[in-house]
Amino acid sequence: MDWPALKSTVSSCTACGLRAGCTQTVFGVGDESAQWLLVGEAPGAEEDKLGEPFVGQAGKLLDQMLAALGLARGRNVYIANVLKCRPPGNRNPAPEEVAQCSAHLRRQIELIRPKLILAMGRFAVQTLLNSEATIGSLRGSVHSYHGVPLVVTYHPAYLLRNLPDKAKAWADLLFAKKTVDGF
Ligand code: URA
Repeated sequence: MDWPALKSTVSSCTACGLRAGCTQTVFGVGDESAQWLLVGEAPGAEEDKLGEPFVGQAGKLLDQMLAALGLARGRNVYIANVLKCRPPGNRNPAPEEVAQCSAHLRRQIELIRPKLILAMGRFAVQTLLNSEATIGSLRGSVHSYHGVPLVVTYHPAYLLRNLPDKAKAWADLLFAKKTVDGF
């Protein structure tokens, strides 16, 4: 499946019940041949309204962290979520929703062929690494998603509630940059 086919598959997907309750699908945004792929959880209210990932408060923090690294959304960076539809009331993704939706993310990764995946938060990590391990225990190592180097960090929405952990997330981003740059 190429980009246009994948985009139209996602926008017309009704494989789980979420599409019936959301405004629109949120496919992903950015440079389709980016070296960096950032993966979050699912659209929230703002993302559902605008059709773009990470445009609410968590997205502002993410943009600031990217800027501090000399990066920007759309410039060598692609941003996507595990789920393309907003779960009602921002509840956690259900396992069957992740199971149905993860093929879309998998194809995005195959098309982008990033140099690095930054998995942000529990759901991205569980989905991409097939692991129930904590973020804390997986940080600081280079993991692999079908051969693509993958680094784990906290979700920006978690950082908004746990400000002291911002320093750890910054360390993770520097580690990710070193990985992209080849140490
Ligand atoms: N949180 C996410 O995981 N993704 C978004 O797009 C917005 C908030």
